[in-house]
Amino acid sequence: MKDGKFLTMAIESSCDETSVAVLADGREILSNVISSQIEIHTQFGGVVPEIASRHHLNNINAVTEQALAQANVKLDDIDLIGVTSGPGLIGALLIGVATAKAFALAKNKPLVGVHHIQGHISANYLQYPELEPPFMALVLSGGHTNIIRVTDYNKCEVLGQTRDDAIGEAYDKVARVIGLGYPGGPKIDRIAKEGNPNAIEFKRVMLEKDSLDFSFSGIKTGVLNYVNTQRQAGKAINVADVAASFQQAVLDVVVTKAMKAAARHNEKRLVMAGGVASNSALRKQMAAACEKRGIKLYVPDPVLCTDNAAMIGCAAYYMYKAGELSDLSLDAVASVPL
Ligand code: KG4
Ligand code: ZN
Repeated sequence: MKDGKFLTMAIESSCDETSVAVLADGREILSNVISSQIEIHTQFGGVVPEIASRHHLNNINAVTEQALAQANVKLDDIDLIGVTSGPGLIGALLIGVATAKAFALAKNKPLVGVHHIQGHISANYLQYPELEPPFMALVLSGGHTNIIRVTDYNKCEVLGQTRDDAIGEAYDKVARVIGLGYPGGPKIDRIAKEGNPNAIEFKRVMLEKDSLDFSFSGIKTGVLNYVNTQRQAGKAINVADVAASFQQAVLDVVVTKAMKAAARHNEKRLVMAGGVASNSALRKQMAAACEKRGIKLYVPDPVLCTDNAAMIGCAAYYMYKAGELSDLSLDAVASVPL
């Protein structure tokens, strides 16, 4: 406690961002330090798990010190320690979990292991102080694509998920195919603005009529086939057109399914989360679709969409309030259902 406020310190290390945050009363960000390894992994065209773990290990203490200093608090002032315990890269997760357990043990503080996706959804509580469950949530990240009905802070029902690639994975793979490199999502976002989204007709995979599931693996093959056919015919490809057309095909599916889920459950509030939720075309098109149907759309600022520890701290706070504590046997888990 400091100045009568309950302090949560949280750690996120599930992929290639080492992040530590300090929150006051669960929803006020005092600090949210994010050390990105993007430049290191760019030369390999994607995240190399072993390298990610090593950098987390090198960075975690400095990032923690920075987060405490920026929040102007000491470790002794912290009331709760939250950490992403899964899903994610196992070696990367282990660094965060081991660090959180060490702090909890050394300072005798309560510990909460957080599901990464619950963290992403919770980013919206930080962005919108008035937001409370229930609402419909759309989680779009590098590892996940889910439509989730959030009924309470710690209760939810997964209505739909990807059957193969996650949406961010599709962005990253397509970016590689058209020579944009890693990380693909932001690069496609940028170049698509200069392209024609109707230039090439890529298939919109909607699956069964009532399904809220997704499938994105086919579109990568669609783009690959298009590029190869053009090359074999000796024709140049217009990268901006391919990026814009790919993006439009994916976003048509995402917007349609989100609207279907909201209508089916008569939900007038839709929350977006995850790295792909920072996509500018998606934000614009989802806002338009929501406005047409009288649905209020919630989307965090881009820095709270991509991986960060503040969102994990917020989720940890509500789990703590519900008595969902972890002990020192907490383990990192690479794959775990919500
Ligand atoms: O949520 P996140 O930071 O990490 C995971 O939990 O996976 O999401 C990372 C993903 C990557 O696939 C990245 O390419 C994508 O989010 N991404 C974007 C944008 N910014 C990040 N995709 C599309 N447009 C963006 N602006
Ligand atoms: Zn994430």
